[in-house]
Amino acid sequence: MAKKKAAGRRTERLSREDLVLIGAARVARERAHAPWSRFKVGAAARFGDDIVHGCNVEFDVYGLTNCAERTAVFAAFANGAAKAPLTAIAVIADTPEPVSPCGACRQVMFECGGADLRVILANTRGDACVVRMADLLPGGFQLEAQIATPPVAARTGAGPAASRRRSKPAKGAARGKDE
Ligand code: THU
Repeated sequence: MAKKKAAGRRTERLSREDLVLIGAARVARERAHAPWSRFKVGAAARFGDDIVHGCNVEFDVYGLTNCAERTAVFAAFANGAAKAPLTAIAVIADTPEPVSPCGACRQVMFECGGADLRVILANTRGDACVVRMADLLPGGFQLEAQIATPPVAARTGAGPAASRRRSKPAKGAARGKDE
């Protein structure tokens, strides 16, 4: 697998785990339902020890289409995998360069995985690169950071930001049984 430099972005070395995730995204891409664009996209997201697949799904009412990255994240919530933190996500498509995620997916990945999330961009020709979420979406929207009173989910520990905080407990901190 050739490492490709993503235009204008700092890239990192691909790990063995990244290659596993790319393989899973490739499998997910085969399940894409893209009768309108014929552009198949696959994603694979690592939540704790789980790998959750996603593919793009298109409908006759075009606006109802769901991208591969968001399908993976939504599936993780639906299946309980999102109780663990999102640490990496791979995306793959048949593109000349490693595929570039859309803006909506960047926001969802940012909210779920935070600025440090490992994002692996790949294409079916074997090119791939690793970037950090903050490089893909500088200054992503975070409700908690925008308002004086944090939203209920953030206060009760149900929100994605709270889930990220739980993934890095302070030294010696006790973990509740619901975490
Ligand atoms: N698509 C994705 O799955 N992910 C992206 O980040 C960009 C676009 C899909 C949506 C649609 O089914 C097809 O690619 C063409 O836009």
